[in-house]
Parts: sequence; structure tokens; C-alpha cells
Amino acid sequence: MNTLRLDLSNIYNVVTRAEVEALKPETEKSIEKLFSGKGPGNDYLGWLTLPEETTESFLTDIQNTAKIFCAECDYVVSIGIGGSYLGAKAVIEALSDSFESYKSKHDCPIMLFAGQNIGEDYLTEMLNFLKGKRFGIINISKSGTTTEPAIAFRFLKKLLEEQVGKEAAKKLIVAITDEKKGALRTLVNKEGYKSYIIPDNVGGRFSVLTPVGLLPICIAGFDISKLIKGARDMSHSVGLQNSYEENLSAQYATARNALYRKGKKIEILANFHPKLHYIGEWWKQLFGESEGKDYKGIFNAAVDLTTDLHSMGQWIQEGERSIFETVISIDAPNHTLNIPSDEENLDGLNYLAGKRVDEVNKMAELGTRLAHVDGGVPNIVIRLPQLNEYYIGQLFYFFEMAVGISGYMLQVNPFNQPGVEAYKNNMFALLKKPGYEKETEQILKRL
Ligand code: PA5
Repeated sequence: MNTLRLDLSNIYNVVTRAEVEALKPETEKSIEKLFSGKGPGNDYLGWLTLPEETTESFLTDIQNTAKIFCAECDYVVSIGIGGSYLGAKAVIEALSDSFESYKSKHDCPIMLFAGQNIGEDYLTEMLNFLKGKRFGIINISKSGTTTEPAIAFRFLKKLLEEQVGKEAAKKLIVAITDEKKGALRTLVNKEGYKSYIIPDNVGGRFSVLTPVGLLPICIAGFDISKLIKGARDMSHSVGLQNSYEENLSAQYATARNALYRKGKKIEILANFHPKLHYIGEWWKQLFGESEGKDYKGIFNAAVDLTTDLHSMGQWIQEGERSIFETVISIDAPNHTLNIPSDEENLDGLNYLAGKRVDEVNKMAELGTRLAHVDGGVPNIVIRLPQLNEYYIGQLFYFFEMAVGISGYMLQVNPFNQPGVEAYKNNMFALLKKPGYEKETEQILKRL
């Protein structure tokens, strides 16, 4: 089948079918709330119609900007954090050759990421690496005032200007930010950088299908039309017009909430392909930041398997029984590799000779799922036919819709993130930011 599929058959070791069914009216009410715009956070529902509203001419504009970077740069640094970072990183990691950056020739610029941390070593090493290289910058911040990317941009802009001159640097910088507000918009207005707008009604973690994700993904050489097409097709099957039976996002949201109410407070997203690591990071942000509020919400963790079976595998199998697992399974990898036969067979592996590596991986996946179910860990499977732009687009929209429904079922506002301010306020007070004098005085008394 050429679409994302959902398998819930292995959750019934913990919840009954009747218990899941009983939640359906709540699910349907949440969908209704989302589409009528009557729920909390209703000013952040732009993501609902984003795939449908993205026009060909808009995508062409992004592609034309990407062409300039491709012609002028060997490296492009995408600066941003949270929702202004993870979507692009997830797609680029999932679709790139794992060893692309080690190759001596590239069809497209190599994407680097900055501003997603405040590591002095990371930034120093990036600046050292970029010295003398042809590079460009995409500066992404919806608020335009986030500290981490602002620091990174100050350094990278300075290096670029030193290398190519102030005027030429302006042509190698693109900003993606709010239409009117924020320091980044002020900078755009002053310096005349090319810029794209993040719509007001699309929150950071829902912004991967805006220029925030589309421009870096396009520069890296991937087909953004297919990404949007995948999301659009998924939006047609998880909308208000679809029945519960058709709506996979609704079924996933319902299953998660049924499990949560049975004491399964942690959801582990597992993959069996290392390229999916950052899809897990994107998912953690989407669900963690959307649901973890009012002192409730499923805690989101992610593991890369089989790698982490040799570390966290023990905990998943026999630790506290407060978890359920969601596996992203890929039907067909993009390469074929058969295990060779060996005359001496000293490693005893000849019983696998002729089999594909993916067959071994699939048996590891099946064996793991069965073992986890036996160990009391309910298991959900999300199947993608292949790893490509189209199915990742489907996956993004599937999860976005699921978190909107699930957040309302949990009775939280899935579209704000008030808790993120706490660390910022303390950091600003400790750094004596102008305007934080009272907070500085108070926090210093605690130390
Ligand atoms: O989901 C969110 O809104 C956040 O994670 C933001 O994406 C993150 O804090 C970065 O914000 P900004 O794009 O304003 O720099």
C-alpha cells in the first residue's frame, strides 16, 4: 500500500477494545474543536490548512532562492532552535546519504546547523571550519528574539562579512521570521536581506512546512513539492470530513490517551534506521512541548534500534512498566545489500548468507516488538512504504493532527509553551539583561 499505515493490534495487552472505543466521543469532540477553532490556542491553527494553501508559485520562489545558495555556496548554515531547527534537520538527515559530508564532491551545499545550542566549542569549531570556505546563512527565528540563534548569527554574519565584504554578504543571508515584529525583522529592514514570513498562526513546532523547513530542505537537494504533496494527501484523510475509521491521527491520539489513562505515562518512539534519529527529535518537540503542561502529559522519549537495544533495551524490557512504544517501520529501504557467503564461516553467519541486511533488521524489529509486548509494553506501529519526501510529508501531518487531537483530549492547550519561559527568565536575570534588574536581585539571593 502506498500510504502511511497504523497498527494498533498490540496495545490490547493493556487496554481493552471497549476502553478505546469508549474514548471515541472525546476524540470526535476534540476534532470538532480543532476544526471549528473553538478550542484553546485557536489562533495557532494555521498548520491545519498549510499544505492545501501552499501554492506552486510559492514553492518556485523557495526553489529559486535555493538555486542562488547552490550556485554561490559549498556550505549553508541554518541558524535556529526548536521548531526553527528540528523539522529541516529531520528531513535532511532522513534523506541524505549518511556519508555525504565526508565526500569530496557534492551536488548541493552541505547544510550545517547553528544556534540550536550555546556550546562555545561547537560554535568555535564551526567558525574555524568555515574560515576561507564559500558559505551562506539562513537565519530562522519566529520571535526574532531567541538568544541561542541570535548569538550564532552575530558570529557567523561577522565571519561572512569579513570574508566576502558587507555588501556581498547581504546576498548570502536569508532571514525567516515574523512579518512585522522582533529584532530579526528590524535587522532585515535595515540590511535589506531577502526574507520569508512565518505566518502568525503557525507555531514554531508546526512550522516545518513553511519556509522554516522548506528552504533548508530544498537547498539540501530534496523535493519540497513532494513533501507538501504527502502532507496534503494526509490532510485529506484525517480531516473533519473523515470518519474515525479513516482517520489514522484520531486513532493514534485515542490509543495514546487510553494507554495514558491506564498508567502508561511514557511513550518511546523507536526506529530501526539511524537516519530517523532526528524524526524522533522533531516528534519529541512536537508532542513534549504541546502536551506537557498543567502538570500532566505523556513523557516522550526516542530510541534508535537496534543500537539502543544494547543500552536502553534492558529498561524497556524489564524496567518500571509505565511505558508504551511506538515504532516507525519502513517497508523498503532505498538500497539492497545481500549478506555474502564465507567459505570458512568462522563467524557462523553462513545461515544468513544470501539474505538481505534488511531481512535481518526486520526480524530484529519483529522479535523486539514481540518481546516488548510479552514484557508488558504495548506497541503501536506506524508503517511507511519508503523513506522519501512524500511519506515524510504524510508522517509530519499525521503527527501534527494527532497531537492537536490528543492535546485537546488531555484538556491542555497544545499550541502554547509557557513553561519554556522559566529558564529564559532565570538566564536573563543571571546575565543581568537590561529590564531584568528586579529578577537579578532576587535570583542572586538564592545563590
Ligand atoms: O515550538 C516553538 O514555538 C518553540 O520551540 C520555538 O520554535 C523555539 O523556541 C524557537 O523560537 P523562535 O523561532 O522564535 O526563535
